[in-house]
Amino acid sequence: MDNKKNRARVRVPGTSANCGPGFDCLGLATTIYNYLDLTLLKSSKVIVESTGEDADKIPRGRRNLTWQAVRRLLQEVGREDEFKGAIIRMKNNVPISRGLGSSSTAIVAGLTAANEILGSPLNRHGLLKLATELEGHPDNVAPAIFGGFTVSVMDKGEVQTFSFLPRIKLKLIVAVPDFELSTQLARKVLPKNVSMKDAIFNVSRASMLIAALVEGREDLLPLAFDDALHQPYRKKLVPGMTEVFEAAKAAGAFGSAISGAGSCLIAFTSARTQLEEKISSAMVEAFAAHNINSKALILDVDKQGAKIIRR
Ligand code: HSE
Repeated sequence: MDNKKNRARVRVPGTSANCGPGFDCLGLATTIYNYLDLTLLKSSKVIVESTGEDADKIPRGRRNLTWQAVRRLLQEVGREDEFKGAIIRMKNNVPISRGLGSSSTAIVAGLTAANEILGSPLNRHGLLKLATELEGHPDNVAPAIFGGFTVSVMDKGEVQTFSFLPRIKLKLIVAVPDFELSTQLARKVLPKNVSMKDAIFNVSRASMLIAALVEGREDLLPLAFDDALHQPYRKKLVPGMTEVFEAAKAAGAFGSAISGAGSCLIAFTSARTQLEEKISSAMVEAFAAHNINSKALILDVDKQGAKIIRR
């Protein structure tokens, strides 16, 4: 068969989950991207080639997460006997195990590219269902698929997502420290139960965050990024977290959060104020005061989500 017909290229945004108070339900897509060139094969070979950020850490062969996503989609649409292998070529910019959704990009890229090659049997909600099943929670895969900000709800194993573009032109300043943090470890430090007081703290802020973004109310954002459910327990895993948050706020950010399960910290500001360079230097310096080397990324909110670049 003509190889071109079995081939698609996609671009998938890195993401930041939680956004402070929205633990396991809020997420946003950012303008840092991973690229996948996928060729489906009739033979059972799985060839993985990767370049770019953390390329040497990406598993090869059948253990590769993108291959697992491709295989899951083939099963879902009953085509797994037709295509038993793949050539997976990745060009990555999203660092691994830093809380920028690199595993979600791998899953969403595999699902989106395979779906395109097969003539789009699933819509984006169908892809979200499979991606959530593979990732275990929807807060990174939803923005990777839809772009913008997403609010996701799980009910009896089913996922519902609302995606929207904020009416404030946000700038995202991400301080990327030079150490990895596994999501597994970052979830292990969380308590089994939380107090009513802390639950109310988060429900009120998460609600305020979404309302302020939807209505374009910058004046309400300084209240909206704080969290009492996960960051107080995770701060021992990210040395200097509180000071980096304070430095970002003093330099003019609305607020900051751990990006996903860490290790990155993300600050939010308005493009209008042009404070992003000042905030990024303040964050890197605050990390350095705790002997942590970091680099800063200044990003926008991605509006498109996973996108086919070429058939
Ligand atoms: N919501 C998840 C967590 C994101 O914070 O553990 C992990 O990618």
